[in-house]
Amino acid sequence: MSEDEFRAAMSRLAAGVVLVTAHEAALDPQGPRGEDIGMTATSFMSVSLDPPLVMVSLREGSRMDDLLAEQPRWAVSVLSDHQRAVAGRFAMKNRVSDRLLFEDLPHTRGEISGALLITGALATLECHTEQRVTAGDHTLVIGRVLASTSPTADGGPLTYFRGRYRQLAP
Ligand SMILES: Cc1cc2nc3c(=O)[nH]c(=O)nc-3n(C[C@H](O)[C@H](O)[C@H](O)COP(=O)(O)O)c2cc1C
Repeated sequence: MSEDEFRAAMSRLAAGVVLVTAHEAALDPQGPRGEDIGMTATSFMSVSLDPPLVMVSLREGSRMDDLLAEQPRWAVSVLSDHQRAVAGRFAMKNRVSDRLLFEDLPHTRGEISGALLITGALATLECHTEQRVTAGDHTLVIGRVLASTSPTADGGPLTYFRGRYRQLAP
């Protein structure tokens, strides 16, 4: 099996799109320091109900993987189909600064994780890493969910299927 065949097969698996966020430095009483990092991901899933665990798979050597090796707190915003542009901007390679990308994006800062939560997301989860498992060229990061919200009553999910962002038909 070639890499292309593998990619093609996996592209047929429709996935929800999330934004994983984390803050570089520990929360400080004087306010947050350091940069906020975001990464678009589809490899996010629920793992366990009791305790509440979730998992995301991060490419080894990506900025988010490097950051979460040091910083155990992170957050996830489950993107709505209105947030395609958010997914696009945080999937770009070689970007100069995530700070600029967050600047014009409405958000709040999670009190527990110190990570940014995107306003208008279908749900948000604040997590603390329980376990990191190396799997091939990725790191599986398993996190305990310490807080979650699901503020938006309506709105559909942003999904990714066959290499394109999609929205569910009404
Ligand atoms: C729809 C979509 C889903 C993605 N899912 C993941 C993922 O689950 N894990 C991952 O490591 N990268 C994923 N990526 C790639 C990262 O978003 C991208 O590599 C990263 O933002 C670029 O930063 P980096 O140069 O530090 O890797 C995805 C990209 C797209 C467009």
